[in-house]
Amino acid sequence: MNQQTSVTDATAAKKTLPDAQTVTEVRHYTDDLFYFRTTRPQSLRFRSGEFVMIGLPGDDGKPIMRAYSIASPSWDEGLDFYSIKVQDGPLTSRLQHIQPGDEIILRPKPVGTLVLDALLPGKRLWFLATGTGIAPFASLMRDPDTYERYDEVIMMHTCREVAELEFGRQLVESLPEDPLIGEFVGDKLKYYPTTTREDFHTMGRVTDNLASGKVFADLGLGTDRMDPAIDRAMVCGSLDFNKDIMAILDGWNLREGANSEPAEYVVEKAFVG
Ligand code: A2P
Repeated sequence: MNQQTSVTDATAAKKTLPDAQTVTEVRHYTDDLFYFRTTRPQSLRFRSGEFVMIGLPGDDGKPIMRAYSIASPSWDEGLDFYSIKVQDGPLTSRLQHIQPGDEIILRPKPVGTLVLDALLPGKRLWFLATGTGIAPFASLMRDPDTYERYDEVIMMHTCREVAELEFGRQLVESLPEDPLIGEFVGDKLKYYPTTTREDFHTMGRVTDNLASGKVFADLGLGTDRMDPAIDRAMVCGSLDFNKDIMAILDGWNLREGANSEPAEYVVEKAFVG
């Protein structure tokens, strides 16, 4: 019996949890970061950038649920997630041990503000993330709509160490050759990864590289700031990161938007962690 058969059999045999989905792949990037893929509920429709609640049963049988950005595009038949591992975290202390064939709970009610519809039309779209905040952009970077709406897309991602960038790097570098999305991506996607605590060819916080103009110079954008007439931004990181980025964007006269009132930028907290 091969691996694939045993996963399928496990799916058919179990389905014991409410809203159960089956884990189909797990990749560990560092001691603190891992990726996993699950089956997708047939009824689940979502917009790239949205999140869902996922979890596992606790010792008392009650589900422990947390918000996770969907890291896969809406056209994909499975669902990708990218997570930290918190050794004493109620959910991730257990979730980090999942294996293909295991079940997780997934509530199929996607929500969130990091959606293209919450932005006014523009020319250049910035994805600004720290750590696992890259997850919603792993979805948006694979959405053809992103490239249909914008001439240029810039993915800025900052982590402490080089190994923490690996999930994003692998994804970004695979896109131009991707049989489904490659032709949409073309040469529109620019990637600007940086570290803050380990030597790397580009370093520094997203905030500092924006405020100093360094990223604009390094990418040859011919300006040293965003312009509310053409630039749009989506932000996902820690609360402090989001706050500091918003101060910079506000200073450039970009305004925060929402589904109900699109504007120049949108913000979401990177949830777990
Ligand atoms: P730094 O190493 O200078 O703190 P963390 O692991 O603490 O969540 O941080 C992830 C990355 O985000 C780190 O590179 C960290 O830089 C950076 N970072 C943390 N807080 C901020 C902030 N307020 N503004 C910009 N970058 C931040």
